[in-house]
Amino acid sequence: MTAAQKRPVAAIGLMSGTSMDGVDAALILTDGHRIEGFGVALTIDYDDAQKAALCAAIEAARSLPDSTAVPDVFAELGRDLARWHAAAVERLMSEAGLESGDVAVVGFHGHTLRHAPERGFTWQAGDGDELARLLGIPVVSDFRSADVAAGGEGAPLAPLYHAALLRSDTAGVARPIAWPVAVLNLGGVANVTWVPGPEDADRLIAFDTGPGNALIDDWVLSQCGWSRDENGALAASGQIHPELVAQALRHTYFVRPVPKSLDRDAFASLLQSPAWQGLSPADGAATLTALTAASVARAVEHFPAPPKAWYVCGGGRHNPTLMAMLGQRLGAPVEPVEALGWRGDSLEAEAFAYLAVRSREGLPLSLPGTTGVSAPRGGGRLSVPAQRGRAQDAW
Ligand SMILES: Nc1ncnc2c1ncn2[C@@H]1O[C@H](COP(=O)(O)OP(=O)(O)O)[C@@H](O)[C@H]1O
Ligand SMILES: [Mg+2]
Repeated sequence: MTAAQKRPVAAIGLMSGTSMDGVDAALILTDGHRIEGFGVALTIDYDDAQKAALCAAIEAARSLPDSTAVPDVFAELGRDLARWHAAAVERLMSEAGLESGDVAVVGFHGHTLRHAPERGFTWQAGDGDELARLLGIPVVSDFRSADVAAGGEGAPLAPLYHAALLRSDTAGVARPIAWPVAVLNLGGVANVTWVPGPEDADRLIAFDTGPGNALIDDWVLSQCGWSRDENGALAASGQIHPELVAQALRHTYFVRPVPKSLDRDAFASLLQSPAWQGLSPADGAATLTALTAASVARAVEHFPAPPKAWYVCGGGRHNPTLMAMLGQRLGAPVEPVEALGWRGDSLEAEAFAYLAVRSREGLPLSLPGTTGVSAPRGGGRLSVPAQRGRAQDAW
């Protein structure tokens, strides 16, 4: 049987994004090529103690020497993350009425502690062996290291999933798509996938566009004690300072050729400058929201042709102020991915379910156009539990 003829399997993907808001879990049906169905998706929010543990680890990771492997000091956090993610999978399986034997594989992204592809490493904490043991389901983890080891950025990895969704009629939404299309993910960092046509997966272009929500979150936390600018209300009440947006856009990141990727805190020092510190909370929020929109608009310079439509996933699409600014700057329709029948809050988690299936099939997870890797590249590390169930015997 060739890989393309394999029957679809149930796979669960798990994402703990740079926004540190919680664990997203999502079930899909896929053969590693097309997406045949969507299942239950949910988020379990981190509590304050969990967020504090992640923040402390990211802080500690900053001062550790460069290494290709996640340093041992994070072993305990890796096991904690496995437990927190196991809770999300268990809740999902219970809502879906599934048992562990029904799920072929779990894709476990883990939490990024440090992303430094230019120095040859990227660290995601999350103990795949422990998660496989807790669930009794095979787990694929460590998705990014192989790409970085082969000279890629290790990110973004969702683009192949975006392309797969665009050529699958998963949601049954018969909607003509005007190509080329851009899929924009507004997470802590923002990333885009440019897709020229339905069967053009090898011509994808993808990269991190710049800040997403993380700087806005950091600003409102430091200024107001809030975890986010709910519905963009604070930004909507402030004035944009265009000179600060222009200054931020002079960062060398924006002139780097694509593909390229960013650490969550690459722009964090910006907010410490006197010019930003002198802004009112509302003006700072407005200006940072404008910076995210302006940096997405800069992405168009890197595409062979401008997108005819933008479909947006990730938490930032819940921010109407940001969505309106994108609409003004992009000169093409900007809609949430729900317009295509997709699920914008679980799309990244779904991507890691898809990539876990592809990992097990030995298929590429990244391409030269998506991470800058020299040739299409597989990856992921498989952890197989002692007890295996029915669906898992597909392999
Ligand atoms: N209603 C909302 N109003 C404003 N911002 C929102 C809203 N909902 C979500 N967000 C933003 O989205 C972020 C979470 O997005 P998410 O896609 O989960 O990012 P990540 O993948 O980095 O975890 C939050 O931190 C917040 O900034
Ligand atoms: Mg998140």
